[in-house]
Amino acid sequence: MPLNHFLQFSDLSREEFDYLVARTADIKARFKRYEPYYPLQDRTLVMIFEKQSTRTRLSFEAGMHQLGGAAIYLNTRDSQLGRGEPVEDAAQVISRMCDIVMIRTYEQEIVERFSRHSRVPVINGLTNEYHPCQIMADIFTYIEHRGPMQGKTVAWVGDSNNVFNTWLQAACLLDFKLKVSTPPGYEVEPERVAAAGAHLEVCEDPMDACRGAHLVTTDVWTSMGFEAENEERRKAFADWQVDVDMMKVADPTAVFMHCLPAHRGEEVAAEVIDGPQSVVWDEAENRLHTQKALMEYLLCGKV
Ligand code: CP
Ligand code: NVA
Repeated sequence: MPLNHFLQFSDLSREEFDYLVARTADIKARFKRYEPYYPLQDRTLVMIFEKQSTRTRLSFEAGMHQLGGAAIYLNTRDSQLGRGEPVEDAAQVISRMCDIVMIRTYEQEIVERFSRHSRVPVINGLTNEYHPCQIMADIFTYIEHRGPMQGKTVAWVGDSNNVFNTWLQAACLLDFKLKVSTPPGYEVEPERVAAAGAHLEVCEDPMDACRGAHLVTTDVWTSMGFEAENEERRKAFADWQVDVDMMKVADPTAVFMHCLPAHRGEEVAAEVIDGPQSVVWDEAENRLHTQKALMEYLLCGKV
């Protein structure tokens, strides 16, 4: 079987994405029936964290356990990674002792370099540029609630960050439209706008981004690694809070998503995230099921 990594959403083909959705549904249904399913018996996942996490760590660790395997947590603070061991050397050593690796780090280049020296599949658990596992869960959640994404419109309000970049890759692969509104100074990178073509519409006013959207989503104003910009960002993003008025102009069937953790009163009003259109808890749970399908695929191929 060829060595497959999952470093960006665009690593998937449309056909692979559809396969993963079907496998996720099956794996989730077995889990809900308390049915044992151990395709990854005796396999070991190593999780490397250079940034904090609740959902990603828990979903990968619990997911590997539920599939019959084991998971090991490493972080920068108490491993040699924090003392400057080259990524290439770490990749050589770690990948000789386990079957699959998940990394959460800073630059995308770090996961790319790791994967080039790894003997086993590598999964991006979030970088400054992308968060592909999140968008797999988000789209699976949309499909569960409302059906296929193709032809739909997603509104992104706020920072053009890692989660946004991944939504944009998904829009191109799965053929839906993304409408984005960011504050001045935090615009989508021009190369990404050019590459997305008609899949992306840039709106000055966040209300325009939300108008008619089938899914409204946002994320923190300050991502991990950018904490020094916090005060400046709080001022710049003040008018980019997803509120009840924005949800009112969206399509009547619109759902609200947030990758979490959320800051009520900043990027989202409490009435929205805690309101009837919010599917954030299903979205968080689906990290578990989609990643189990992903690990099964990377290690066993099509089953
Ligand atoms: N959404 C997400 O990745 O959450 P964590 O930072 O808690 O892993
Ligand atoms: N954009 C956020 C996502 C956290 C899950 C960050 O990178 O911190």
